[in-house]
Amino acid sequence: MQNLTITRPDDWHLHLRDGEAMKAVLPHTIRQFARAIIMPNLKPPIRSVADAAAYRDRIIAAIPTGKQFEPLMTLYLTDNTNPEEIIAAKASQFVKAVKYYPAGATTNSDFGVTDIRKCDRVFEVMQQVNLPLLLHGEVTDRDVDVFDREKVFIEKHLLPLKERFPNLRVVLEHITTSDAVQFVLATNNIAATITPQHLLFSRNILFKGGIRPHFYCLPILKREEHRLELLQAATSGNPKFFLGTDSAPHPRNSKESSCGCAGCYSALHAIELYTEAFESANSLDKLEAFASFYGPDFYQLPRNTEQITLTKTTWRIPDEVPFLESGLVPLWAGQEMRWQMAEH
Ligand code: DOR
Ligand code: ZN
Repeated sequence: MQNLTITRPDDWHLHLRDGEAMKAVLPHTIRQFARAIIMPNLKPPIRSVADAAAYRDRIIAAIPTGKQFEPLMTLYLTDNTNPEEIIAAKASQFVKAVKYYPAGATTNSDFGVTDIRKCDRVFEVMQQVNLPLLLHGEVTDRDVDVFDREKVFIEKHLLPLKERFPNLRVVLEHITTSDAVQFVLATNNIAATITPQHLLFSRNILFKGGIRPHFYCLPILKREEHRLELLQAATSGNPKFFLGTDSAPHPRNSKESSCGCAGCYSALHAIELYTEAFESANSLDKLEAFASFYGPDFYQLPRNTEQITLTKTTWRIPDEVPFLESGLVPLWAGQEMRWQMAEH
């Protein structure tokens, strides 16, 4: 096969940042994706419908002339989120979900939830008005090993949450373990996004010949057996698994540091990375539904009608792209790729 034409995809989990950083990365996403679920972990986070409306206006103002892109907004859940804000969010039409970060779990999560049960009144209303909950599914307990944080979150918090709110529609974001795959398969009203890095790499790559900060994200990469199960889930044709890059730009100097930030930058070339992953599993025929159908179906939005074409040709991922003061290193920089999206 030399050409692969698919419906234009959407990114169901994206960190766009704000200001100059956003202006640098937004064109990369727009090249490939028609819509994206925009993460609310700014400093300070997007906590109200008014915050989301203003952020959405800034994103729309940064769309290059002549390009189409729809930002789908989210609210950042805190211990103090008011159920009335949920009603207003649903009524706004542009807020499509609410994001849960455990306090302290990752970048800009200081305002996150300290105890998930504190939000039960909010979850009750979200269940009622049919607004999805997006989970950063990791515990933050100091005594839990960093590689076990997703598994423990599922047992300790997610299972009880789904028992309390069986009709609450949940996306377990950026899943990394077979435990997550099994839980999603076995439970109603839950789906999962999968990133390119978790489909392509196991944790070995973090230490290949030295420490490699540009592969460091949260949840951290896991063992190869987990990667294989994620790849199997993504290519299985099960609509519970769909594309969400978790592309999270940090300037080079914040990644290459004695205490480097978590986040992989994949918005530059996400669809090509996913194509490589699906080809490695002999499942190119399953790419379109994963990238372009199951996400809108879960969010109860129309599928895109435009198409994109991927062509079999070799090219090298650049070492760096311009970004703030120190540049941005794309995921798998320097790697030779076999698929490239045709420019229109
Ligand atoms: O690696 C990550 N980076 N994981 C997250 O959950 C947040 C993200 C970011 O915002 O940089
Ligand atoms: Zn994220």
